[in-house]
Amino acid sequence: MTKLAERTKLIKPSVTLAIAAKAGKLRAEGIDVVNFSAGEPDFDTPEHIKAAAVDALRKGMTKYTDVKGIEPLREAITGKYRREHDLTYRKEDVLVSCGAKHSLYNVLQAVVNPGDEVVIPAPYWVSYSDMALLAGGVPKLIPSNEASGFRIKPEQLQAALTSRTRVFILNSPCNPTGATYSRDELLALARILEKHDCLILADDIYEKIVSARLSSTACRRRMR
Ligand SMILES: Cc1ncc(COP(=O)(O)O)c(C=O)c1O
Repeated sequence: MTKLAERTKLIKPSVTLAIAAKAGKLRAEGIDVVNFSAGEPDFDTPEHIKAAAVDALRKGMTKYTDVKGIEPLREAITGKYRREHDLTYRKEDVLVSCGAKHSLYNVLQAVVNPGDEVVIPAPYWVSYSDMALLAGGVPKLIPSNEASGFRIKPEQLQAALTSRTRVFILNSPCNPTGATYSRDELLALARILEKHDCLILADDIYEKIVSARLSSTACRRRMR
């Protein structure tokens, strides 16, 4: 049998996929399940996106590109940040990779040294801690609960940061809780973070999948 590298023993099989499989099984048994596991929309990829992918293939866009990503895409990304966030980036600031997981993995590999702490508000998307461990880091979880809307308080962040903190991961809206921080809440966290020499890794993957901030009680009421 192939002997795997020691570091593979640090990580566990994806709980997300195990939950998704369980939800699929319950659904097949006719049970009405709200599946909060894999972060996937419940609609098909829109036609214009499929058409653009087919068009690109037909045009032969299947070759190696600049490692940072093709220039028109990097320029389009700077445009998105300008339009939607009033942030000015140059295309040289943008690096495209194959999805959020790949980007997060690359960043953690690039910046975490052995023993560096990676601070993660919990509950969190399960891959964060495994990716931190694979980079030699130490995941440091900040707990949250229903009473706080599954959002952490500034004083909790303050208490979690040490001289070993290298990265703070923020996922808002959050998978799995849906917790979404307001502008004021983000500013309160930012004021603490700016006093520390750590990187903020903002996983904004669900920024478009949010319409209203619901307390989990309201959420449950809606689901009934
Ligand atoms: C919070 C979060 N970040 C990243 C990912 C992975 O995204 P991608 O499929 O783009 O690699 C997921 C997928 O579930 C996620 O929930």
